[in-house]
Parts: sequence; C-alpha cells; structure tokens
Amino acid sequence: MTEMKIIVSANYDEMSRLAAEQVATLVRQNPKAVLGLPTGSTPIGMYRNLIEMYRQGTLSFKQVTTFNLDEYIGLPPGDVNSYRYFMFENFFKHIDIQEENIHIPDGNAEDLEQECIAYENKIRAAGGIDLMVLGVGNNGHIGFNEPGDHFPVATHVTKLDESTIQANARFFDSIDQVPRYAITMGIGSIMRCHRILLLASGKAKAQAIRGAIEGPVTPKLPASILQFHSDVTIMLDAEAASLLSRSR
Ligand code: GLP
Repeated sequence: MTEMKIIVSANYDEMSRLAAEQVATLVRQNPKAVLGLPTGSTPIGMYRNLIEMYRQGTLSFKQVTTFNLDEYIGLPPGDVNSYRYFMFENFFKHIDIQEENIHIPDGNAEDLEQECIAYENKIRAAGGIDLMVLGVGNNGHIGFNEPGDHFPVATHVTKLDESTIQANARFFDSIDQVPRYAITMGIGSIMRCHRILLLASGKAKAQAIRGAIEGPVTPKLPASILQFHSDVTIMLDAEAASLLSRSR
C-alpha cells in the first residue's frame, strides 16, 4: 500500500485551484520557501491561480527561490519554446519574485556537464527544495527522466524519447525543430525534495498514472519511484484518474 495521497478533482480548473492552494499555503507559512517548478500545459492553470493571488495581495514571492526541473539543449536564447521563456511568460513576469532567486538549467552552457554539477550545487546551497511540483509525460517521465533501465540520480544531459519528441512537437512548427537533448534534474534530485506534488490531467495520462500509483516501481515508468517518497500528493482530474482501481 502506497503512502501517496491521491486527490481526484472533477476537472482541470478545480485541480489547478487546489494545486495553487498547496503552494500558497507553503509560501505563506515560509515566505523563504524553495520551490521546484515544472513546465508543460498541465501547470498553467496552477500558475494562473498563483498570479491571481499575488494580484489580490494575498501572496508574495519576494523571498521565494525557484528551481526549474529541466530545459531543452540548444534552443537559441529567448526562443519561445525554451522553458525559460515559458516560465517568464506564464509565471515569473507576473509576480514579485526576484530574478536572482530564479534558477533554470542553461541549455546553452558551453560545458553542459559543468552546468549540471553547478545546478545540483545551487540546489544544495539553497538548503534543498521544500516543495517540488511535477507534471508527468504520457510515458511516465518526470522532468525529462525518460523510461529506461535505471534511475539517473543527479542533474544530467538526456536524450529525449521518440514519444516525447512527438508529444512536444505540438509547440513547434515542425517535429524536426524539437530539440533531441535536454538538461533535467535527476530522479535523485527529485527524490531529495522534502515534499512532492504531481499534477496530471486528461486521458492521455491515465495509463502512466495507473502504473505510477498501482504498478511496480520501475525505471520503465520513472514516476513510479514516487511510491518510495514519504510525502507525495498526486492531484488528478477525473480523466487522468480514470484507470485507477475502483477500490481506491
Ligand atoms: C514535458 C516536460 C515535463 C512535463 C511533461 C508533460 O516534456 N519535460 O516536465 O511534465 O512533458 O507535459 P504536459 O503537461 O504538457 O502534458
């Protein structure tokens, strides 16, 4: 029996509201909280809710530090598909976070190996991540930790799965433009976070969610490792939860 807390919402909007509440509660308790943040379509609703709280004056990010999970390698600086661009457009430029407290792996670093080591060191120097928010790929990836035969531990350079390239092609003009490589926090970087909140919405995630929660822990489905974490909340909409066993 897993320790995971599963919260199923009727729809995406409710899930997004609840996710934002979790983040907001932490930041109100600890204004210097360190957050791990994801990109993708899934967290956009959560970011909108957090922006709204900031606008209403009920939440401030002035002392918050953030670490993003991952970034494509080789996109030109400022590219609209870079995760840096995504984060500023969808969240950072709308709130009062200090730019020096924002951390996103640099996919254009000259020495990528060094960038990975430096990123891990920065997380450590910040005292670790209090709350890591995660999405999940259709294939069960978290960050860009793709299905494989082992769990990569630290921040590393990874080759994207063919299915991920296809899934992410929707944001690019053509599939050829989707980067083949990325920098991602490792499974160890994620598991060291004090709390984890994973969000999943829609039918395309249902299979991965079932495997992650009810299947064996296996690097073939990276999100399944979360069964070994002691403080994980999984927030789902009804479609993403649709393949979970009924006894739940
Ligand atoms: C991307 C990101 C992941 C994200 C996932 C799901 O490839 N690297 O961090 O969780 O895909 O994205 P979406 O929320 O758009 O389904």
